Amino acid sequence: MEQLIRQAVKARRNAYAPYSGFRVGAALECAGGKIYTGCNIENSAFSPTNCAERTAFFKAVSEGIRDFHRIAIVGGQGETLVDISPCGVCLQVMAEFCDPGSFQIIMAKSVTEYVCRTLGELLPMGFHL
Ligand code: THU
Repeated sequence: MEQLIRQAVKARRNAYAPYSGFRVGAALECAGGKIYTGCNIENSAFSPTNCAERTAFFKAVSEGIRDFHRIAIVGGQGETLVDISPCGVCLQVMAEFCDPGSFQIIMAKSVTEYVCRTLGELLPMGFHL
């Protein structure tokens, strides 16, 4: 757990967030144990902004990985990490690939302070075709 959160904190350093100043890092653990990290990448047109969680998922899926165990996320302005939970769009992306009952979302304020929920708890009625 601690290692995954540390990876999210490290990934956050690369966040590109000149508009909100809110920098987010994510570390996505795959079935084989490999970790894909991500950060938020903002855009002056705003809507092309990509969240840290989706950056991590899209990196993994683009490399052929679709089996995921858990994700750790951290975020905040400046150096202080605050309470954070994934946005609805990111939860819907997770719902495309992850089992709602077992995929864990770790929302961390530090390596020792975190809240853990399943995808199904955060998105009980995700859309599926
Ligand atoms: N953001 C994320 O990267 N992940 C979240 O879970 C919530 C929001 C980003 C989007 C935007 O760049 C900034 O945080 C402020 O909304």
